[in-house]
Amino acid sequence: KRLILVGPPGSGKGTQSPIIKDEYCLCHLATGDMLRAAVAAKTPLGIKAKETMEKGELVSDDLVVGIIDEAMKKPSCQKGFILDGFPRTVAQAEKLDEMLQKQGTKIDKVLNFAIDDAILEERITGRWIHPSSGRTYHTKFAPPKVPAVDDVTGEPLMQRKDDTAEVLKSRLEAFHRQTEPVIDYYSKKGVVAQLPAEKPPKEVTVEVQKLLSS
Ligand code: AP5
Ligand code: ZN
Repeated sequence: KRLILVGPPGSGKGTQSPIIKDEYCLCHLATGDMLRAAVAAKTPLGIKAKETMEKGELVSDDLVVGIIDEAMKKPSCQKGFILDGFPRTVAQAEKLDEMLQKQGTKIDKVLNFAIDDAILEERITGRWIHPSSGRTYHTKFAPPKVPAVDDVTGEPLMQRKDDTAEVLKSRLEAFHRQTEPVIDYYSKKGVVAQLPAEKPPKEVTVEVQKLLSS
């Protein structure tokens, strides 16, 4: 399967991805995670992206298209993939189509994580992440066994620099202005499925499974 997960910040893309990935043996390509790793490692890419990400704005199409183009060549991505946080602009979607056309493949489904903006601040400000595994927790909705400690490795959890109420406003604005047109783009191709992302995490997983089996 070749899937795109699209939705505003905090809608649950990163929470559902590992579950879908394991169930269908897909690779999980999250441009946000890859960019954060580049920022932490202070690579040239990370140095370019850092400030833009901290402001909650989108980094340039060329940067992310380059990352995805490279990542999709991995053998583990040949059978299928989950794109989480990409494409985020119509220009990125067009580039992706070109890349897939060259391989003779196309996107099977776009899962649209539909959710009201008002719910997102609480989700974003309560989030804790384990950067190296991508595991995500929430102080109220998915607390770790020990506060601020990863359940599996015992390593410390971190909060994202852009997870403030203030930066969330810019991220939401970017979503509505630049990413919602991507949903229209794929709707015209008839591949968008609506996901009720306001439900509790386990119920969202069930909905994802239903959509993917149909
Ligand atoms: P990115 O990392 O993609 O961030 P985002 O799109 O803002 O999405 P989030 O990771 O915030 O949300 P999510 O849907 O994954 O939520 P999660 O499942 O963790 O991008 C970051 C930045 O990188 C961008 O601003 C931009 O600068 C740059 N960037 C990335 N890709 C780019 C691109 N293609 N082009 C240009 N720039 C790009 O859940 C959130 C919290 O809620 C967690 O704590 C979780 O435990 C909890 N939760 C999840 N589901 C539920 C539920 N059902 N009920 C209750 N709580 C829940
Ligand atoms: Zn995410």
